Amino acid sequence: MSIILFTPHYLNDMIKFVIYVSKVSVPLSKTALNDLIAESRHNNKENLITGILLHIDGVFLQYIEGPEDKIDQLYQKIKEDDRHRDLNILESGLIQTRKYKEWQMLFKRITLPELNQLIGNKKVDIKNIDINLINHETAKQIFEQFQI
Ligand SMILES: Cc1cc2nc3c(=O)[nH]c(=O)nc-3n(C[C@H](O)[C@H](O)[C@H](O)COP(=O)(O)O)c2cc1C
Repeated sequence: MSIILFTPHYLNDMIKFVIYVSKVSVPLSKTALNDLIAESRHNNKENLITGILLHIDGVFLQYIEGPEDKIDQLYQKIKEDDRHRDLNILESGLIQTRKYKEWQMLFKRITLPELNQLIGNKKVDIKNIDINLINHETAKQIFEQFQI
């Protein structure tokens, strides 16, 4: 007797992720930041995108994950958004399981001292950031602190 296993196609679908860092171009008011988060969460829900956005003293560090086409479209929009500049992709790729499946966009605002406390000895001077200083290792280390 032969057994044929059917795997639903959605189980085979890979999830794309992108991690990038950027600089805030103009200081955003609390309201402006809240609007950005609300807009992102609304859109992400529609597009099955999840992730985390950190605002660290004038720097954005974001992780987004979701269907490949949706992530590519979103990244294109984010890249053209003039609320920030000097975008630098730290890592992107395909994964099988989401890391932030509960979060349309987890948002945290942290200060540089808080960040340094979180990641221990690995000091990152975000104020005078040479954006390349945050490499994907550092970013992963930071995100791990916020994994739910
Ligand atoms: C730092 C940063 C992070 C953003 N993250 C998201 C996001 O996760 N999802 C999203 O839909 N838009 C995000 N945006 C906003 C997009 O750039 C864009 O304004 C938004 O998707 C609306 O685009 P639309 O009006 O063309 O639909 C982000 C913008 C910035 C500056």
